[in-house]
Amino acid sequence: MKILVISGSPRKKGNTMSMVKIVEKEMMEIDESIEFEYIHLIDKDLRFCRGCSLCLREGGDKCPLKDDGQHILKSMHNADGIIFASPGYSAMVSGLMKNFIDRFMYLDHIPELIAKPILIISTSGGDGVMGAPNYMAKMSFYWWACNIIDIIGIGHAFYTINDKVKRRTEKKLRKAAEKLYDTARLKPEPRPRFIQYMYFGFNRTELEISSSVMPYRTRVWKENNWLKMNYYYSTGVNPLFKLIGGIVFSAMKISYRILLGKDGDKKIAAYVREN
Ligand SMILES: Cc1cc2nc3c(=O)[nH]c(=O)nc-3n(C[C@H](O)[C@H](O)[C@H](O)COP(=O)(O)O)c2cc1C
Repeated sequence: MKILVISGSPRKKGNTMSMVKIVEKEMMEIDESIEFEYIHLIDKDLRFCRGCSLCLREGGDKCPLKDDGQHILKSMHNADGIIFASPGYSAMVSGLMKNFIDRFMYLDHIPELIAKPILIISTSGGDGVMGAPNYMAKMSFYWWACNIIDIIGIGHAFYTINDKVKRRTEKKLRKAAEKLYDTARLKPEPRPRFIQYMYFGFNRTELEISSSVMPYRTRVWKENNWLKMNYYYSTGVNPLFKLIGGIVFSAMKISYRILLGKDGDKKIAAYVREN
């Protein structure tokens, strides 16, 4: 089993990594053959996204930035489970982590890590503790369609000073380690939660409205048969989700038609070309 850690902390032996190490230790006690790979973004040549959107228009490998992006993507594909780790910086993820997420923007619309088991870990001093982890979870759970097994935000000052908080946090980390191990081993494809179903539907509806505008994206969706499916893989979907989705997606189509007026397809095509 391969577990990949992607860290957005510039401190390789800092607070966030010390929490990840608790998870690693626990997992190694369960199975000593697990391979851990660490990607410290601070060591990588991962340049700022230039906003050309070529990844979305022509494919992730068409990114003009020739740096470590493709290697990182390969490691994510090869991993049985991934830990996203970032300190909270100004109530958000660190700049390193934000840039990493921006660089894989196309995965919001053309996901490649579907149902990948993900554990989110973040530390901050103690204020806005869930800002960074919730953001990482939002991107990987709603958009990338990964299987989030836990979202852990730790106020490191309280962890250090208060024994009770320390014990409670370590228990949580150990439990998450067990869950990550089981999920990475079994690789289940869980039924989508409501929010995941809706994000899938937003993507699908966008393509239904303007498929000719985004030929590459449409091709991938067709190849995977996603345009005809209820989710990115065969699974049951709660009938209530379908009912609500049916109404929302129809409303989305109608409002696009009203907002864009006549020849909406051509107008969006021109917008996409120019932007
Ligand atoms: C630039 C910067 C911004 C920070 N912003 C916050 C913040 O908004 N809230 C908070 O509680 N701690 C904040 N901190 C403290 C860190 O989140 C905290 O020390 C964290 O545990 C550091 O993790 P690391 O050692 O893995 O890098 C900030 C630290 C830095 C350097």
